[in-house]
Amino acid sequence: MILETERLILRKLEDTDAERMFLMDSDPEVMKYLGTPVKTVEESKEIIKMIQKQYEENGTGRWAVIEKESGLLIGWCGLKLLKEPINGYVETLDLGYRFIPEFWGKGYAWEAANATLKYGFNELNAETIYAFADAGNKGSNYILTKMGFENTGEFEDSGVKCSWYELKREKYI
Ligand SMILES: CC(C)(COP(=O)(O)OP(=O)(O)OC[C@H]1O[C@@H](n2cnc3c(N)ncnc32)[C@H](O)[C@@H]1OP(=O)(O)O)[C@@H](O)C(=O)NCCC(=O)NCCS
Repeated sequence: MILETERLILRKLEDTDAERMFLMDSDPEVMKYLGTPVKTVEESKEIIKMIQKQYEENGTGRWAVIEKESGLLIGWCGLKLLKEPINGYVETLDLGYRFIPEFWGKGYAWEAANATLKYGFNELNAETIYAFADAGNKGSNYILTKMGFENTGEFEDSGVKCSWYELKREKYI
């Protein structure tokens, strides 16, 4: 286990999470601002492998979010070390999250992201944590702003207009 909140457990993704990951990433509603939905469980297995490699190489990555009450994987949340530049930033920590629609609207994104930020500042000793979202993704932009992130500009990622966010440790802790 990496983190525990009142209602959630955040832990590393495991091979056995593939079916739940597929349920999430094959859903067009989830992927509305994120790209093409995956089509096979095999693709989800490959994604899990890629993230597991990031844990090994970078010491961090997106984590499975487990709802304590049901024991189910309900999404992922975590800090990814950017290895390819995004908006000109590289080797910086990027906060990300995504959840299965059945679990939206319960405050889980906020709960998971808040715990993740604490971990980033306290355990990974980040000075600044970054995030970005499709400019049209109201929910995500709202959550980032509510968490204290500062919107420092817009940029294009693969032709999509995105908002860029930064949160400095002194603003958070
Ligand atoms: C965006 C997403 C993570 C929100 O998850 P969630 O668990 O429903 O969010 P929460 O319940 O923690 O909501 C936190 C706040 O955001 C608001 N919010 C959430 N989704 C919203 C939306 N679509 N539009 C406006 N506000 C929204 C909530 O009302 C809540 O506000 P409050 O705290 O003032 O009451 C979820 O919809 C999702 O997984 N979407 C698909 C993947 C995605 O877009 N990920 C982000 C990529 S940058």
